[in-house]
Amino acid sequence: MTDQLRSLALDALTRARDRTAALTSCVDDRDLTAQHSPLMSPLVWDLAHIGNQEEQWLLRQVGKGEALRPEIDSLYDAFEHPRAARPSLPLLAPAEARVYAADVRGRVLDILERTAFEGGPLVDAGFAFGMIAQHEQQHDETMLITHQLRKGPPALSAPEPPAHDTGPLPREVLVPGGAFTMGTSTEPWALDNERPAHRRIVPPFHIDTTPVTCGEYQAFIEDGGYHERRWWAAEGWDQIRQHDIGAPLFWRREGGMWLRRRFGVIEEVPPDEPVLHVSWYEADAYARWAGRRLPTEAEWEKAARHDPHTGRARRYPWGDADPTEAHASLGQRHLRPAPAGSYPQGESPLGVRQLIGDVWEWTSSDFLPYPGFVAFPYREYSEVFFGSEHKVLRGGSFAVDPVACRGTFRNWDLPVRRQIFSGFRTARDAQQPAGPDGGSL
Ligand code: AVJ
Ligand code: FE
Repeated sequence: MTDQLRSLALDALTRARDRTAALTSCVDDRDLTAQHSPLMSPLVWDLAHIGNQEEQWLLRQVGKGEALRPEIDSLYDAFEHPRAARPSLPLLAPAEARVYAADVRGRVLDILERTAFEGGPLVDAGFAFGMIAQHEQQHDETMLITHQLRKGPPALSAPEPPAHDTGPLPREVLVPGGAFTMGTSTEPWALDNERPAHRRIVPPFHIDTTPVTCGEYQAFIEDGGYHERRWWAAEGWDQIRQHDIGAPLFWRREGGMWLRRRFGVIEEVPPDEPVLHVSWYEADAYARWAGRRLPTEAEWEKAARHDPHTGRARRYPWGDADPTEAHASLGQRHLRPAPAGSYPQGESPLGVRQLIGDVWEWTSSDFLPYPGFVAFPYREYSEVFFGSEHKVLRGGSFAVDPVACRGTFRNWDLPVRRQIFSGFRTARDAQQPAGPDGGSL
C-alpha cells in the first residue's frame, strides 16, 4: 500500500513538473515576465511560487531540511502581494526560477524515498506529497488561464477531443430525495475542505444530463437575456451594465456569427460544446431565464456520487476507479471541452454525464466548511475563504489533472470571475411526496 502510494506520489509530482515545464517553455522570457492580465500573475511568479511552496512543505516541514532560499518566501506569498502587484516585485528571472524549482525537486525526491508514510497527518499516506502535486497542478491550470488571456499567436496545441456517442439523451435526470454521504474521511489526499464525510438530506430534484451548451446559451443572448433586469441578481446586473458585458468572455459577434478566441485562435462558437467563461451571475441569470436554477453543491455531489442501488457514495460518478481517458477529459489532454454528452463511460448511476472534466460547474452554494471541519495543514488553503463571498464550483475542467479532481473536490471563486474554465448545468425541484420530511429516507 505504502509502496503504491509512494509511486503514485512520484508519478503525480513528475506529471505536474512536466506540465509546468511545457507551460513555461513555449513562450519567451518577455512573455514569462509580462502581465497578460491584471487578474493574473506573470507566469514566472507561478513557476517560482510552485518551487517555494514545495520547499516550505516538503523540504522544510516533511524533510526537516535547512531552508534553501528563505529570503524569497515573502515574494511568493500570495497573501502579501495581490496578483496585480506581482510584476513590479524583484522576482527571480525565468532561468533562475527554473533552476530553483529543479533544485527543490531534486532534494524532495530524496525525501520522498526516505520518508515513512506514517507517523503524523502530514506524512500519513504521503498526504503532503499529494497536496504539493495538487498545488502545482492548480497553478498549472492558473497558468493555462494566463495563456488563454495572452494576446498573440498560439503557443500551445493539443489534439481535438475524441468523438463519442452523445445522444439522444434525456434533457434531465430525477435524483430521488433522501440522505446521502457528502465529503470524505477516507480519500488519502483529499484536502481539508472536502472533510469529513457526513450525511445530508437532499429533497428530490431534477438536474440537466449535460452541462449547458454554447448553443443553448446563445438562445439566452438572442432573447435579450443580458438586457432584462429580472433575470439578474443585483450585483450581477451592476457588473454587466458597468462593464458592458453581453456574452461569455472571449466571444464576439461578427458578420451575424458568434466567434471566440481560444488560445490564440479565432473560431466559430461550437453550438454543441459546454459553454465556458461565464461568471456565476451569468449562470444564475441563464438558469432563471430557463425557468430553472443552479444546483446546490449538495445536489451536485449527490448527482455525481450517490449510488441509489447500494446507498453508497462513489469516489467518481462511474465508480471508485481512478479516471482513465475513457471516463473524462482531464489533464489538459485537449484545449477545449468535448461536446455535451461525451464520455458515456463516465456517467453516474442515474445517467448524469460529464460531471467530471471539461468545464468547472458553478453551484448556487457559498463556500462553507462542512460540519466538523478542521483546517489542515494551513488556514490559508480553505478557511480564510469561507463565507458568502465565494461560490463553489464542482467537477473540474479539461485543465484539471486527475490528482486534483474527485467527486468530493471543491473549488471556489468570486461570482464575478469569468476567465476561469467555468460553465454550469441547471436543476429544478421535483414534486415532493407528502410526508413530514419531504422524501423517503
Ligand atoms: C482552490 C483554485 C481557488 O488557485 O486560488 C493555489 C488553489 N491555493 N495556491 C487558487 C491554491 C493556493 C486555489 N483554488
Ligand atoms: Fe499557490
